[in-house]
Amino acid sequence: MDKRTAPLTESKAWKALQDHFAEIRGLHLRELFAGDPARGEAFTLEAAGLFLDYSKNRVTARTLELLADLARERGVGDRVEAMFTGRRINVTEGRAVLHTALRAPRGASVEVDGRNVVPAVHEVLDRMAAFAGAVRSGEWKGFTGMPIRAVVNIGIGGSDLGPAMVCEALRAYATRDIEFRFVSNVDATDFCEATRDLDPRTTLFIVSSKTFTTQETMANARSARAWCLRALEDEAAVARHFVAVSTDAAKVAAFGIDTANMFGFWDWVGGRYSLDSAIGLSTMIAVGPDRFRELLEGFRAMDEHFRTAPVERNMPMILGLLGIWYADFFEAPTVAVLPYDHYLRRFPAYLQQLIMESNGKSVTLDGEAVGAPTSPVYWGEPGTNGQHSFYQLIHQGSHLIPCDFIAFARSLNPLDGHHAMLLSNVLAQAEALAFGKTSAEVAAEGASPALVPHRTFPGNRPSNVILAERLTPAVLGALVALYEHMVFVQGAVWGINPFDQWGVELGKELSRRILPELEAGTEPALAHDGSTNALIRRLRRLAAH
Ligand code: F6P
Repeated sequence: MDKRTAPLTESKAWKALQDHFAEIRGLHLRELFAGDPARGEAFTLEAAGLFLDYSKNRVTARTLELLADLARERGVGDRVEAMFTGRRINVTEGRAVLHTALRAPRGASVEVDGRNVVPAVHEVLDRMAAFAGAVRSGEWKGFTGMPIRAVVNIGIGGSDLGPAMVCEALRAYATRDIEFRFVSNVDATDFCEATRDLDPRTTLFIVSSKTFTTQETMANARSARAWCLRALEDEAAVARHFVAVSTDAAKVAAFGIDTANMFGFWDWVGGRYSLDSAIGLSTMIAVGPDRFRELLEGFRAMDEHFRTAPVERNMPMILGLLGIWYADFFEAPTVAVLPYDHYLRRFPAYLQQLIMESNGKSVTLDGEAVGAPTSPVYWGEPGTNGQHSFYQLIHQGSHLIPCDFIAFARSLNPLDGHHAMLLSNVLAQAEALAFGKTSAEVAAEGASPALVPHRTFPGNRPSNVILAERLTPAVLGALVALYEHMVFVQGAVWGINPFDQWGVELGKELSRRILPELEAGTEPALAHDGSTNALIRRLRRLAAH
């Protein structure tokens, strides 16, 4: 069989980048800006309502040329086309990867195995819109005839993080007549706390699971059913209080949810790429069908940009290639994502699954070692909270931590003075990280010699600044698509498959074995190691007291 990927580290562009890195690694951002006064304007891009300033990265124009060469040599453009045209690029699962078809306009054609999938996408969107409209207007009644006042999405991973993030991000656009909750953890505390103050007569559960087999989701769905029936005392109530979102109608029916109340999607939508599929039903109920369409339009605008812009002017390509520059050449193990908008406080958690479940792999499509570090760890908190917590380490610690700052020119809650303060902070942080404060500057301010090293900021800490006028549904869609495609670019360069997640399987398998051992009075299986056996015995002893 032909190899799908040539070894990354033997490619011409990679070797050129290695030589180039050796030449410029010591260059300081102070020098780069001093040598090019236009840099702050030149190293920027605009697309789909987003503005990216990548000037405060440790790169020269030559670095960017070489990174673009790397993308070309690794065939990223061909992979992009393969994705958009429905080829089965998820080779380990034999699936197409078509989240971009979820936002294709009505009338477009995207084929999988010779069948256009776009009509089915819009059929589901239309059904979702009708249902969301009925719930929002109160036309959809609970079993006792009362309107819905709380929507609880039960799901985990991509069936939770996406809608939970978007519902929070677009809260300013959401109805305030309905409460939105998200239950994901198999820890019963999650379900109990989420439903403690809810009335079963006015609560709608959306059971969201691509596979409809996920242990956590099924356990929570069963508990929700029991909670509902304890109060409503009639099986017929389930049809008014439960809907399902899944790719598997048979399993939905087997669980006891009428498939008339099911919203489908397809195996070519990965869990972490599904927030704009029927998995977004809770979002659509929250913000309404029109705002949801605006969200899809934002995704689509970024999709079109990604598919058509040349590498050098392509925002997801630039973001992805810069990520590779830091992960593989500077060997920076993490990236901080720092949204200066409180509505985006779940965005880092959402990105963690999108990025780390996608590119947290070490072997290529051919099963060979990649030969270079792959995805860094993503983490973050909204500004300005992070500034009073971990920014100390980003400024003066021993790790290089590239940062993505995200901010909006206008606030959705313009309270006197707050927004200018918020924005002054994001700009100040990016400036301080890049340029620092030299020991000479600290000394000139009159610091005692003993304090000078402590008060010196080395600078040369890279960041991107992503700006938009305001956080709207369309801007959010573009922002999510930007990161989706950034992940794609990186996966293509590394030659890995960003669309499977075999790494979650072993833990699931072992937990299935441990569960009966914890519950049973018998000795744990000898097959476990000594530590696991001892922990099982200890937990059983403690639980028995
Ligand atoms: O963690 C593994 C995973 O399969 C994720 O990829 C997925 O988003 C999540 O579990 C939930 O899966 P499902 O939607 O099938 O319940």
